[in-house]
Amino acid sequence: MAVSSQTQAVHAYIDQHRDDYLNDLKTFLRIPSISTLPKHKKDMQRAAEFVQQQLTAARMENVRLIDMGGAPLVAGEWLHAAGKPTILIYGHYDVQPVDPEHLWESKPFEPTIRDGKIYARGATDDKGQVLAMIEGVKALMAAAGKLPVNVRFLIEGEEEYGGAGIEKYVTERAEEIPCDAVLIADTHMLGPGLPSIVYGTRGILFAEIVARGAAHDLHSGTYGGVAPNPLHALALIIAGLKGKDGAIKLPGLEKLAKPVTDEERGWWAQHPGSVEERLQREMGVGVFPGEQEFAPTERMAARATFEVHGFVGGFQDEGAKTVIPAEAKVKVSLRLVPDQTPDNVLPLLRKQVAKLTPPGVQTDVQLVHGGLGMVVDVHNPYIEAASAALSEEYNHPTYFLREGGSIPIAPLFMERLHAPIVFAGYGLADEGLHAPNEHFNLDNFYHGIHGTVRYLEHVATIKGGRHGK
Ligand code: BES
Ligand code: MN
Ligand code: MN
Repeated sequence: MAVSSQTQAVHAYIDQHRDDYLNDLKTFLRIPSISTLPKHKKDMQRAAEFVQQQLTAARMENVRLIDMGGAPLVAGEWLHAAGKPTILIYGHYDVQPVDPEHLWESKPFEPTIRDGKIYARGATDDKGQVLAMIEGVKALMAAAGKLPVNVRFLIEGEEEYGGAGIEKYVTERAEEIPCDAVLIADTHMLGPGLPSIVYGTRGILFAEIVARGAAHDLHSGTYGGVAPNPLHALALIIAGLKGKDGAIKLPGLEKLAKPVTDEERGWWAQHPGSVEERLQREMGVGVFPGEQEFAPTERMAARATFEVHGFVGGFQDEGAKTVIPAEAKVKVSLRLVPDQTPDNVLPLLRKQVAKLTPPGVQTDVQLVHGGLGMVVDVHNPYIEAASAALSEEYNHPTYFLREGGSIPIAPLFMERLHAPIVFAGYGLADEGLHAPNEHFNLDNFYHGIHGTVRYLEHVATIKGGRHGK
């Protein structure tokens, strides 16, 4: 694409305003917007208002907080590019809890720069990424006075907590946000300097398996040998659901999965470097249990998983207590690939847990939350535009990958808005998302600002947007 002098002016403008962007990012990161903890309710409001101010500064119109019962949605739009496509930009301003806090090298809500990276909870997931998109739009408005396409923002504050509000909004009021494509920056790149488009995410089914044995806790000396032990029952159930060979033993699960295509395997084969080396470096362990007949890349994004997240019950304190608990539970999740869904997998799980439950114990599987995975057809102009924009920005061809994580609102956007999803993220896998010392590479923050501008400029060349006015 020919680079107009106006375009060059926008990029020069961005380079001159780096300090402002960094200050905005620090301000955003200082707000402890942990959506899952009720004591941070005021901070959710403050973070929403920060986003609202940013959208106003980006000269969006009709900037508003939408109350769906929980942390507000923040929306705004600019629709004056007649005949051009409309892009909906999505991200989230909420963050994960910080525990264990003693493992943080600097305080989680005091953003600190070390070695070109900004450390704070939410830096990469998702404040740094969502702010990059806002700053890109802001820069275009400031330097060019207009946008090349129509833009809407819809930024939520409950993503890390199930996203109930936005789900309700998109289900009930999709007509308020018509668009031709959805741009999301909440995913990874394959590595530093390697621009990447994620074309698939996994779904999730998070559940608690509750087990009950005797009517009350028992002395293990008096009753050991005859009493059912719910904790041990859960251990048996877990082992029965996934054995040493790494295969999930859930009859019916496999045949729900949509097969991986040859085209996809072709893209994955182009990914540079050794996945095993990267994993060893990032995880600090060089043995990779799981389905050995599938390559790690496939296991990490295009196969279902079954994981245990915590056992609850019995004696958890320091020391010893010889108790046989009357009740115990275990928190588990399955990551799902299309077309496995929480609806069609939960009955399989319930049935198998019942089958694996030993005598004297009663079990119950309770759904905690669920979300759909998705795969988007990459052969559409909005993804081609993103691929071109990222390649230009990083001066490197763009890779296509599937993500193992879940962004449950994305498939709902696709369904309700009839628009393709473009996951153009600027994070790196080892930036500690959901973990201590979360950080975001500042180079990628600035690339994200330029990249957003480039993306919107490429979209402007697409003919036939349905929603331009
Ligand atoms: N940004 C992540 C999704 C993600 C995870 C993208 C890993 C790329 C790599 C998102 O904020 C997230 O954490 N999603 C949750 C969703 C769940 C709570 C429904 C997840 O994947 O665990
Ligand atoms: Mn995220
Ligand atoms: Mn997250």
